[in-house]
Amino acid sequence: MNKLRIGIAGLGTVAQGVLHLIATNGDLMAKRTGVQLSIQRVASRTTKPEVDLLGGVFSNNVHDLVADPDVDVILELIGGEGLAKELIESALAAGKRVVTANKAVIAAHGDQLLASGNVPLRFEAAVAGAIPIIQSLNQGLAANRIESIYGIINGTCNYMLTVMEEEGLAFDQVLSQAQALGYAEADPAFDIEGVDAAHKLTILAALGFATSYDFSALYVEGITQIAAEDIQYAQELGFKIKHLGIARNTDAGLETRVHPALVPTSELLASVNGVMNAVQVVSDAAGETLFSGPGAGGAATASAVLADVLTFAATNFSEREPSPPESQGTATQIQRVAMDAIPSACYLRIPTLDQPGVFAQVASALSAHSISIEAVIQKEPSSADTSVSIVILTDMVVESAVNAALKDLAELAAVVGNITRIRVAPTH
Ligand code: HSE
Repeated sequence: MNKLRIGIAGLGTVAQGVLHLIATNGDLMAKRTGVQLSIQRVASRTTKPEVDLLGGVFSNNVHDLVADPDVDVILELIGGEGLAKELIESALAAGKRVVTANKAVIAAHGDQLLASGNVPLRFEAAVAGAIPIIQSLNQGLAANRIESIYGIINGTCNYMLTVMEEEGLAFDQVLSQAQALGYAEADPAFDIEGVDAAHKLTILAALGFATSYDFSALYVEGITQIAAEDIQYAQELGFKIKHLGIARNTDAGLETRVHPALVPTSELLASVNGVMNAVQVVSDAAGETLFSGPGAGGAATASAVLADVLTFAATNFSEREPSPPESQGTATQIQRVAMDAIPSACYLRIPTLDQPGVFAQVASALSAHSISIEAVIQKEPSSADTSVSIVILTDMVVESAVNAALKDLAELAAVVGNITRIRVAPTH
């Protein structure tokens, strides 16, 4: 039987997941593809004697993988940008196939790495963990014009919002749980500040809309300002709060944005909970399709890494990424819409003094920017509180007008804390 000889860079959660999955399902994979996966080498800064390397030779230097003529495919599972990018480039230059789970590198350097077309570089695991969304966009939906992509694409954020909702816990309490479960990035700020989701959306937008990998074009906001009470108020208004990546083709151009959003409870995306990710793609022929599955964790991510390895194996090692459209002269550099120009309905939680006339001041500040109120919640404060939250759901209003209104509201003497603004997810 043919062998595909693997060199693994990194020995963290995902690399260990890959080793474990080959140990348990390697025979099944061989039966399916006619190719036996074998571990030739494993390279990592730190040794982990407790991990079974399945016969792979250990070294501390990832460049040993490139130098070894007996390594056919290199799995870049070290993360980060510097060394990872260097490894990918030198491996490709040496004629190796490369599989990476590295969304940061692809989001920042995808155009450059894939520029020559026909590059044997695959990155299914970079977006949405186990979900085969890259293959679905590149192949399954290839006949379609994509209208929008909405994704719950950060497992840590979704896990945290779900636990905050179900257990009423505060933000800081649930972050450490997500870290302990192996969902969070090495620097969890990447998760909670939206950077990880933005890396992934950059990739989805590039593939879905045949445009460049342009991380800098995205609007990025995380979940750090969301409190358990926002989740409760949202529920009363008929919504769940989800952290969404949105890429949407509109008459004004392509919206690419990552932020928390109110999703109507009746939408399928609203019931995607915990570490589960989901990507909804709306396209002209296929209509609305929804892909859902675990978005983080060693085993789930290993499943996607090995899907790429097996694609190389099943096609007698010849499978390449589809050439990026820009290398074929067909790229449409779609105009991106500035965040300021995007209209949304908005949830506002405004902490105010509990005094007569305050609501009128708030309403008048909104009205001065032609913002119409759709719904209001104001509860009795507890006896200990001197302030009260006014929660407002606005009608559709362009971002720049809300920003101006928020500035005016913050200057009112009766407003006594930070205002929380959460956009309602657009209908598609
Ligand atoms: N930290 C990421 C997440 C891991 O929480 O989704 C998978 O990319």
